[in-house]
Amino acid sequence: MIKKYNLINFLILNLANLIYCKLPYRPVVIIHGVLTGSESMELISSRIQEMHPGTQVYNTPRYAGWNSLEPMWHQVEQIGEDVMAIAAAYPEGIHLLGYSQGGLVARAILQRYPEHNVRTFISLSSPQAGQFGTKFLRLFFPDLVCETAYELFYSRVGQLSSVGNYWNDPYEQKLYMKYSKFLPFVNNEAKSLNTTLFKAALTKLNKMVLIGGPDDGVITPWQSSQFGYYNNNATVVDMREREIYQTDAIGLKTLDNEKKLTIHTVAQIPHFMWHKNISIVDKYILPYLD
Ligand SMILES: *[C@@H]1O[C@H](CO)[C@@H](O)[C@H](O)[C@H]1NC(C)=O
Ligand SMILES: *[C@@H]1O[C@H](CO)[C@@H](O)[C@H](O)[C@H]1NC(C)=O
Ligand SMILES: *[C@@H]1O[C@H](CO)[C@@H](O)[C@H](O)[C@H]1NC(C)=O
Repeated sequence: MIKKYNLINFLILNLANLIYCKLPYRPVVIIHGVLTGSESMELISSRIQEMHPGTQVYNTPRYAGWNSLEPMWHQVEQIGEDVMAIAAAYPEGIHLLGYSQGGLVARAILQRYPEHNVRTFISLSSPQAGQFGTKFLRLFFPDLVCETAYELFYSRVGQLSSVGNYWNDPYEQKLYMKYSKFLPFVNNEAKSLNTTLFKAALTKLNKMVLIGGPDDGVITPWQSSQFGYYNNNATVVDMREREIYQTDAIGLKTLDNEKKLTIHTVAQIPHFMWHKNISIVDKYILPYLD
């Protein structure tokens, strides 16, 4: 009975789209944050379907809970394969949204699979420039403190964890460049054979949306959600003043010049509320999903 209803609903919607010459909404792939799973992204998923009827939403169940601490490249590879399979079924393009660590996984998927057809990429409070705060890990690693975490993360073993892969200690940049297997590469701070592709993969986006805010409390510094970060004397520098932007290392400047880069700073949203707040979805996410 339910199936039948859905089918009728689907036909009516598509008929309406035909009559008004409206194209159907592109599918949206959603990637959850660290130490949670797809259930944490249900509100965003259902709100998209409610406001944009007919949208296919793929809310990845992969790397939930503890598994979300697996190395970033593993997650990028696996979830990336799913994203590319979905993309192949929709030649008109898809959209990609990631929350917290998931936004960094999502961005690296674009770079690892430069043949993607993602049009809009939305990063919802993600440590795009790295992380230098242990608050979200305290629950699980009560002894971890910022000042000495590098000793754990900048080692072969430490690099076996996702957090180690984007741990960016402003006081230990030499060790960061030496040990980190992930962030220096996707941010083109370390040159590799893929540097050119990594940039091309981002500049082909139609839209990049970076959402974050000063009351986040977990992403440290919060400006990392918008590619801002500490300089080498631990002063936070905004994206546009940083080398990654000024040298156009990964195409942020190109996107910005072409008006394809949108930054939203929203106050009074704690980290664990970004994906639980309907008004955030309505104001800063839905307008970019066509
Ligand atoms: C470059 O990318 C290819 C495939 O995307 C990957 O197999 C290879 O390991 C990457 N090399 C470097 C140096 O990042
Ligand atoms: C730290 O960096 C900021 C911004 O680049 C600069 O204004 C400030 O003078 C620097 N402070 C020190 C102690 O070097
Ligand atoms: C939701 O976000 C809006 C900003 O868009 C904020 O004003 C409001 O207080 C938030 N609501 C909750 C319950 O956090």
